[in-house]
Amino acid sequence: MPGKVWIEGFVVDADAARVPVFDRGFLYGDSVYEVMRTFGGRPFALGEHLERLARSAALLEIALPDRALIEQATVAVMEASQEKEVYVRIVVTRGSGPIGLDPAFADAPRLVVMALPLKVPDSALYRDGVAVALVGARRSSLGAPGAVDPQAKSGNYLNSVLAVAEARRKSAYEAVLCDAVGRLAEGASSNIFVVRIGRLQTPPLSVGLLEGITRRHVIACARSLAIPVDEVALWPVDLQRADEAFLTSSVRGVMPVVRVDGAVVGEGQPGPITRRISDAYLADAQRG
Ligand SMILES: Cc1ncc(COP(=O)(O)O)c(C=O)c1O
Repeated sequence: MPGKVWIEGFVVDADAARVPVFDRGFLYGDSVYEVMRTFGGRPFALGEHLERLARSAALLEIALPDRALIEQATVAVMEASQEKEVYVRIVVTRGSGPIGLDPAFADAPRLVVMALPLKVPDSALYRDGVAVALVGARRSSLGAPGAVDPQAKSGNYLNSVLAVAEARRKSAYEAVLCDAVGRLAEGASSNIFVVRIGRLQTPPLSVGLLEGITRRHVIACARSLAIPVDEVALWPVDLQRADEAFLTSSVRGVMPVVRVDGAVVGEGQPGPITRRISDAYLADAQRG
């Protein structure tokens, strides 16, 4: 595994990085994380990712190491990787301790930062678009009793792992999850957008979804292009009958969607508004 990892104050080869088996990230997914990519060697929207990491940690009552340390570790591991463009993953677990769910058992938060060679999706996927599947797994809704707030980007992704397994069985690139009442929420690791009669539409945060950093930038790009944006409740039929659709995430950027559960979306190819937004987003990201 090429790449470098910052752990316990040292940068080591990715292959050599180890965490103890009693780390709660390993045992319970008791961790928060962020993923970003570099453009021109600089991590895009690092500040926004660090702010979201702090919000996630606060929601899960994980004490985050100092922001300055996280930034130093990120710079150190990126420099050591000597790659032109990297995938950066910052993970903070609650720490290690005796087995047991009580968070008080954790010793101290463990910070790990990975800088791995950036692997972006094949250009053919951007050119031709991808298929998504509406899956049975539900996104745990905001405010649902006992559910972890979807704004917390935690290491516990079991629901999404099973959602992706279902999507793969249906030969789809990404799973789209709905909330408990069947409204579209988001992709397993992406946000979802549709275009209807010249308007860009995406589910509001109140449905219960992660506020993607790419989502936020895409909304701003659309507005700067004078494309109206609605954050409105959407249903599967809105995706099936959309003129265009796309997914967003930090590594994928803007990924056109051309099929839902085997049925064609719009013209069955990436649409013009998707292209304009994607170009504007890339220009924004390349400017840094
Ligand atoms: C559940 C979920 N939603 C949305 C996203 C997209 O977020 P971002 O644009 O910040 O990468 C991710 C990214 O990993 C995610 O895991």
